[in-house]
Amino acid sequence: MRTKPNEQVYKHYTEEDFEVWKILFDRQMKNLENHVSLDFLEALEKVKFRADRIPDFTEVNSILQKHTGWGLHTVPNISEQPEFFNLLSQKKFTATCWIRTKEQLDYLEEPDMFHDVFAHTPLLSNQAYCDFFKSMGDLAMKHIHNKAVIEKLGRLYWFTIEFGMIYENRNMKAYGAGIISSSGETKNALGNKVKKFDFAIEKVFTTDFRTDILQDKYFVIDSFEQLLASVPKIEEAVNELVLVS
Ligand SMILES: [Fe+2]
Repeated sequence: MRTKPNEQVYKHYTEEDFEVWKILFDRQMKNLENHVSLDFLEALEKVKFRADRIPDFTEVNSILQKHTGWGLHTVPNISEQPEFFNLLSQKKFTATCWIRTKEQLDYLEEPDMFHDVFAHTPLLSNQAYCDFFKSMGDLAMKHIHNKAVIEKLGRLYWFTIEFGMIYENRNMKAYGAGIISSSGETKNALGNKVKKFDFAIEKVFTTDFRTDILQDKYFVIDSFEQLLASVPKIEEAVNELVLVS
C-alpha cells in the first residue's frame, strides 16, 4: 500500500504489505524477547495479532470494545494534538492503516501501522492503561487552549505511552510504543548509556525530549495501576500550572 488512506480497505493490501508486516513482526518479537512487558505480551494475545496477517481494524475494534470499550480511529497521517486528545477523551486512538515499504524497514519519517497498530494497540485492551490514557485526554481537553499545559501533557504522553518502561519482577521492560516498534530503540533503551528515572510527575513535567534522535532518558513505572493512581497528582500539577500561566 503506497497511498495513505483514511480508512482501511483490507483487500487493498498488497503482497509486499503482508511481507513487510511479517518481517517487522518476526524481527521485533525476537528483539523484544525478555525485554518487553508481560502486560504487552498478554495484550498481544488478547488482540490476536500474528506475523502472517495484517490486523483487520473491524476485528481489532470489536476485541477492544469487549475488553475496555476503546477503539481505533483511522487517520492518514499523524494527528494534530487537539484532534488526538479529543479522540482520546472519547476512548479512541488515532491509527494509520498503511504500512512502510520494504526499502523503509528501518527508517520512517512518520508513524505507519506497524508503529500505531503493532506497538500501540495491544495495550488498549488493558483497563488500567486505558483509564490512565483517557484521563490524559480528558485533562488535555479541559485545557486545550493552554499552551503550557498541553506542552506538559505532551511530555507525559512521550515518557509513558511512547517511551515508557516498567519494572517487572525487578527487571526493566519496555511498554512504550516508540520502543516496541523500533529495533534501534529497543537496543538503546535497554543499554547502559541512557538515563532511567523513577516515574514522578514533577520530573516528567520538567524534562524535555527530542523526537529526532534515539532517546537518552526514560521513566520507569512499577505498574499501570501506579500510573492510574498518579492521575490526581497530575491534575494537581496541571492546576498549579494554570494558576501561574
Ligand atoms: Fe506513537
